[in-house]
Formats: sequence, structure tokens, C-alpha cells
Amino acid sequence: MERIYIFDTTLRDGEQTPGASLNIDEKLKIAYQLEKLKVDVIEAGFPASSLGDFEAVKAISEQIKELVIAALARALPYDIKKAGEAIKEAKKGRIHTFIATSPIHMRYKLRKSSKEVIKLAVEAVKMATEYAPEVEFSPEDASRSDKSFLYEIIEAVIEAGARIVNIPDTVGYSTPQEFKALIEGIVQNIPSIKNKQALLSVHCHNDLGMATANSLSAVIGGARQIECTINGIGERAGNASLEEVVMALKTREDFFHFYTKVNTQQIYQVSQLVSHLTGIPIQPNKAVVGKNAFRHEAGIHQDGMLKEETTYEIMTPSSIGLKKGELVLGKLSGRHAFQERLKKLGFHLTNAQLKKAFDSFKKLADKKREIFDEDLIFIAEEQTVQMPQAYSLEYIHTVTGNKILPTATVRIKKNDHIFQEAACGDGPVDAAYRAIDKVCGLNLTLVDYSIQSLTKGKDALGEVRVKVKGKDTLVLGRGTSTDIIEASAKAYLDAINRWLFREKKRDEKRDREIK
Ligand code: KIV
Ligand code: ZN
Repeated sequence: MERIYIFDTTLRDGEQTPGASLNIDEKLKIAYQLEKLKVDVIEAGFPASSLGDFEAVKAISEQIKELVIAALARALPYDIKKAGEAIKEAKKGRIHTFIATSPIHMRYKLRKSSKEVIKLAVEAVKMATEYAPEVEFSPEDASRSDKSFLYEIIEAVIEAGARIVNIPDTVGYSTPQEFKALIEGIVQNIPSIKNKQALLSVHCHNDLGMATANSLSAVIGGARQIECTINGIGERAGNASLEEVVMALKTREDFFHFYTKVNTQQIYQVSQLVSHLTGIPIQPNKAVVGKNAFRHEAGIHQDGMLKEETTYEIMTPSSIGLKKGELVLGKLSGRHAFQERLKKLGFHLTNAQLKKAFDSFKKLADKKREIFDEDLIFIAEEQTVQMPQAYSLEYIHTVTGNKILPTATVRIKKNDHIFQEAACGDGPVDAAYRAIDKVCGLNLTLVDYSIQSLTKGKDALGEVRVKVKGKDTLVLGRGTSTDIIEASAKAYLDAINRWLFREKKRDEKRDREIK
């Protein structure tokens, strides 16, 4: 099997993502992580573009010693000099110089003839060889360039000293078949590439969503280096994403017959770090690293996963450094997945209890997009626990209106004793909750509150659901009444009783463990 070199340009093209900008410390953090990931080359920046970029490339060259450090430079003496100075301390430095070769770019952007472009490219490469042990050349917008001109400039830069020739699909215009043919044409027509004197690389943008496919097609066509970014970030719609090309080569090794030296178990961590530091979120359905990439929702899929993971997973979560895939419980989930999750939460229900619990779960799943563990605990406890009523509501009275301060008085029973308290609040529910807090004296936080009517009409039965947190325990509470203030108070007390129950259980467990 042949090796594919991975050239990561997260810190250069990736940083060109609109809105993403990294300071030196952040770039260094990412560079260290890329070192752990064991990519072959990192393009650390574009030193001539700003002082900050220059300093960042310099710092990375001084500190990261396991990888080739590349610096980008236009085919201009100033840029080459800056790039050379920035990578001086690198253990192995590379100058990556480029100039556009497509008719559109040469005519409108550069306003230069093809002859002038070749001259500039050759001079830049020659100069770069004096500053760096490795020189890479890119004919920008190669996929829209004239092929014979492309061959001519590639031959000329190799002759001038370039050892890596990178073919960019700068505007993401190419298709996999076309791009493969372009690469094959270069291999066939340039002897020094065919005989491997120079390495052929590709750099694909994702404007039409084909960056990964184009990169992989290029590899089949003869390219041996792929330029890519973590999470596929980059100019406009981004670049080929590293995790996709690497995991495709690994997962479909049987098809591609290539390997990379990337330590794929670091992928998830670096993906999170890049997202966190650039502030660019990862779309949930992003291949390989998206939040949903290893989550299974449909009942049939969950059942298959529980029987044999390879039924619906072509790569394991652990192969990218994720602990375990997840079965997401929702309205499509089946009984099997529901029961398994309850077992994990410590509930072993009889068949009759399971039937009732599953019915409640399905009803809830129709109303809620995602079911959390606390919802499941609530449902399971309804079937299995006679919840001790530490506190119960005896009486509630509220005064409210748009011109007075809302107040509430509650009378609560605890172990045959009656406690009464009053409080003011932002509204009658808030006042009631403050009064209840005074009685119970627990330091709990109301995390969520929702209300809905269970029946129709003005005298409808209202159901209040609350989520309450104390220490690390999150519990749900539910209360119903035709009076929504009373329903709210009952829901809050229900949550308090459940919280006390869970804390007691936890203490008992800890005592048993100590003994
Ligand atoms: O997309 C592109 O053409 C580039 C070059 C500088 C390689 O980023
Ligand atoms: Zn690019």
C-alpha cells in the first residue's frame, strides 16, 4: 500500500473562514494538537500577510518539531523572504508559493500574460529554494486553467527546484471524474511526477460540496498529498475536511489501498478544539465529527445496533477518539432501546411495568423532540417507586394583579407538622416558589418550567412540569390542577420530594460502599 501525505492547512486556509481569527496562543494550541494527530505538514500561516501571522508561523516553527512547517507566499520576493524568515527555526520548513494560472485570474486579477506568470513562478521557486529545504508550488485555479499551460508551468517550477506541486481546485468547480482526469493527465505528461521526483498534491474547495470526493478521486488518479482542514473550515464553503479524507481512506482501505500516518484517535479532540477556538460550530450532521455522526434514532436502527454494532456503524466512535455512540431516544425508538437505557440507569422493570412505562414514554416522545435521562428516570420511578411525600401542599393563596406586588401564602405539611410561609415575587408562581423555598430551606434551582392543558375548555386541567437542580442532581416534577398556580406549586413540591428521595438513595449507596 502507498502512503498519502496529509497537509493540514487549518491555520492558513482554515483561518480564512469568514469570522475565524486566531491569536498566536490559539494557533500554538492547535499546532500542538495537530502534532499529536500526526499529520505530515502544517501550513502555519501566510507570513507576508500580517505581523501577527508572521509571529505565529515563527512561534510554531520554534516549538513544533515533529512536523514539516509550511508558510504560504505569493510568487513575490517580499513574500518569499518573509516566509523564509518565519520558518527559519523549523526543524523542517517548507515554502509554499503560488500564482494563478487560469485565463480568468491571469487576465482580470494579475493582468499578466502566461509568459510573465511562468517567469514569476520560476523566479519565486528559485528564490524559495535559498530559504527553505522544501519548496511547494501551486498554480492557483488550476482546475480552470488551460491544460497545456499547466503542464508547461509545472515542468518549469520542478526544473527550478519545486519538490511538491499542488493542484488547487480553488473555487470548488471541478467534479470527481474531471479532477481525476486532470491529475492523471499531469502524471502522464510530466515525467518528473511520473517517476516520483516531485510529489503531486491536491487542494480542493467545497463550493459544490465535492471537496472530499475530488480529493479522493485525485488520489486514485495519482496524487499523493491531500491538503485539507479540520472540520473542513476555510475560504467560503471551506476545504476538504481532514477527518473525512482520512477516515474514508482508513474505513475503505479495501477500496483505496492507501494509508496515512494520522493517529485517528485524536480526531475528535482536535475537531472540538478548532471549533471552540475559531467559534465556528460543527453542523450536527457533519460526517465523522458532527454531534449526530454516531447517534442512532430510528427504532429499527437502535434494535440493530443493540444486536450488532456493525449493522449501522461503518467505523467505531473510538476510532476517532469518541467514547461511545449513542442511541437517541425519541418517538421513533423501540422498546428494546428503551429497556436497555432504563437498565443502564439502574431500573429493572417487570414486563407489566415496562409496558406502562413504554406507553408513557411514547406519549412524551410525541410532545418532546428529545428525551433526556431525567425524563426516563421520572417515567421509571412512576412505575417502580412509591414516592415518599416528604412535603405536601395543604393550602395555597395568591394575590396578584397588574398594579400590585404578587404575593403567595403556602401551608405545607411535613411529618404531621404544618408550616406556613408567605413571599412576594415577580408573578404568582414565583411568589409561591419563594414561599415554598422558605418552608423547605433547600438550595435548589429551577432549571425549566412548562405548562400545558390536558383537557379542553376554560376549566381545562393544566399540567405543569418543572426541572429542578440541586448539587449534581437534576429531577423533574409534575403537578396537575384546574388552577395553574396550584398545579405549579404541586409540580415544584413533587420535584422537591423526588430530589430528596434521590439524595437519600445516593447517601445510602455511599454508606454501603464505605462499609
Ligand atoms: O485555494 C487555493 O488555491 C489556495 C492556494 C493558495 C493553494 O488556497
Ligand atoms: Zn485554498
